[in-house]
Amino acid sequence: MEDSTEFILQNQGSMMVYGSKDSPILTASTAALLAGLYGMWTMFSLPGFNKVPRRLKVPFLPSSKVQTMNVMKLLEGRKGQLADLGSGDGRLVFAASSFGLQCTGFEINPMLLAYSRRKARWTGVPTSQANFVNKDFWKTDLSKYNNVTIFLAPGVMEVLGDKLLRELPDYACVIACRFAFPHWPHRASQGDGLDQAWAYDISTVRSALG
Ligand SMILES: C[S@@+](CC[C@H](N)C(=O)[O-])C[C@H]1O[C@@H](n2cnc3c(N)ncnc32)[C@H](O)[C@@H]1O
Repeated sequence: MEDSTEFILQNQGSMMVYGSKDSPILTASTAALLAGLYGMWTMFSLPGFNKVPRRLKVPFLPSSKVQTMNVMKLLEGRKGQLADLGSGDGRLVFAASSFGLQCTGFEINPMLLAYSRRKARWTGVPTSQANFVNKDFWKTDLSKYNNVTIFLAPGVMEVLGDKLLRELPDYACVIACRFAFPHWPHRASQGDGLDQAWAYDISTVRSALG
């Protein structure tokens, strides 16, 4: 009897450590499920990227409500033209256009672009307020914009900073969400941690960097 109890306990212990007899199937199905989810995620977040150099690829990750709100607080009182570099599903563009800014969302992913355009039509937002264009912002001249919003990735901020300093007018303001420009002095910031956003005046950045 003792022997069999010991056997059961031992057996239970090994089942707890290594899982049940079905574990190879479970592992295989979990792996297949994860691979499927990853496939769907890349299908949704990365199409349109074949011409963007590998180090500059930034997938879709929507800004949260708090991040969006922090960006909007930093835009308060701004007027004129706004470019959102990588507009995703259009949330920053829609929020900024409600302040009266004329916004253009640059988006390379055709699915997100179609979604944003459809949403603009459904909600009755005219293209003069929220326009979505299928353009790679790295290959676009941004000199006509006096407001720029960015939620991209840390690895692209320095290169992007150089492009913006070459092209934007002195009176332009740049708002970076979640990832700051490495050497730029900011005028203001909102929120903290992952939700932080920074506002930069191009004239100040130019004088500070010489
Ligand atoms: C982190 S998401 C931010 C989306 C949106 N701005 C938001 O705050 O929710 C970055 C977006 O930039 C787009 N993107 C990345 N590189 C781009 C490029 N070179 N030209 C246009 N869009 C680009 C991606 O497809 C993705 O939708």
